[in-house]
Amino acid sequence: MGDGRQAAQARATVLVTGGAGYIGSHTVLALLQAGWPVLVLDNLCNASAESLRRVERIAGRPAPLVVGDIRDEALLDDLLARHQIGSVLHFAGLKAVGESVARPLDYYANNVAGTGVLLRCLGRAGVRRFVFSSSATVYGDPETVPLHEEARTGPTNPYGRSKWMVEMMLEDLAAAEPDWAVGILRYFNPVGAHESGLIGEDPAGIPNNLMPFVAQVAVGRREHLGVFGGDWPTADGTGVRDYIHVVDLARGHLAALERVHAHAGAFTVNLGTGKGFSVLEMVHAFERASGRPVPYRVVERRAGDIAECWADPRRALELLGWRAELGIERMCEDAWRWQSRNPDGYRGATAPG
Ligand code: NAD
Ligand code: UFG
Repeated sequence: MGDGRQAAQARATVLVTGGAGYIGSHTVLALLQAGWPVLVLDNLCNASAESLRRVERIAGRPAPLVVGDIRDEALLDDLLARHQIGSVLHFAGLKAVGESVARPLDYYANNVAGTGVLLRCLGRAGVRRFVFSSSATVYGDPETVPLHEEARTGPTNPYGRSKWMVEMMLEDLAAAEPDWAVGILRYFNPVGAHESGLIGEDPAGIPNNLMPFVAQVAVGRREHLGVFGGDWPTADGTGVRDYIHVVDLARGHLAALERVHAHAGAFTVNLGTGKGFSVLEMVHAFERASGRPVPYRVVERRAGDIAECWADPRRALELLGWRAELGIERMCEDAWRWQSRNPDGYRGATAPG
């Protein structure tokens, strides 16, 4: 691909589905700061448009939002006809493991069938550069760690299976139609927030994930953390994960975007740090960062949990020139800045000064 063509493509708008959400909003900010025009498509089922207003404030550039659903074929055809879209970052989807066990059809309809609709519309419109938010959950219960991309996959819940199915759909599509360029990004455990304290993770209801729960305990919204099991076969008996700063993750998407603009075909990479930390290590790091106590009680193991999971991140470095840079101290400091300045998240939305 010649330089001229690449430069012209670099100016084409990036469609960001789910761009008002946690990872999407941080990535939209990174795109704007790197000079990419963006268009967000989000049905706001798990997000607030306020996130994008704050992104615009930080970037000083517009982050236009179309409120709509990836399953709405007519809306997609219209959007693709009106805008010069060059590539897609596809974050939109449902992500709660427990909910997926209770309502599997919602997950298959939204995540799998929804992605199918989106891909069909994109193909028709000639937009064939696509980056997908997959998850380390596709590995299921790891045989060994660290997890290399060629490790056995086999997710253990409907959410994970929905991600796995989309991965297979994308690989089949790239094999059938070689002009598609597809990046499959398997995120490990995204945490933290932008250093401005203006955007961050804003879960509805009781957080399912560790770090938003810890942050809410530190800020006084909840009394104590329940640690799911103290007898795992790990150094301190609590679960070990590969926590990755959401700003590093956002940079990973920029690198993947450059790659799908330069090469056809499909690739799959882990986005993780390559290091594992236990629940108690994260709790203590958060206490240091916030200066607040995080009381906890060890409770029963959570159904479906695994002992430990961390990435082999070498392929992302080889293929994308990307590696995670921020450690758990920064993850906790930035999460605390967001949580303490926005104790109720985007609700009540007057942006703090
Ligand atoms: P999020 O819920 O904050 O963002 C998802 C966004 O998609 C939300 O803004 C939601 O309103 C939107 N959305 C959902 N269904 C939609 C639809 N049918 N049409 C249009 N918009 C829709 O979640 P997140 O943490 O930012 O995750 C983004 C992506 O990354 C998801 O696909 C998720 O499965 C994946 N992922 C997340 C994690 C994690 O721990 N956060 C880990 C691995 C993978
Ligand atoms: N944990 C607790 N108490 C809590 C919440 C979590 O002790 O209140 C523990 C868990 O048992 C686990 C660790 O904290 O050991 C991390 O749990 P999370 O729920 O934050 O993250 P998971 O690794 O279970 O799963 C997350 C996402 C999945 C995604 C996966 C990818 O929820 O969607 O990371 O690696 F697929």
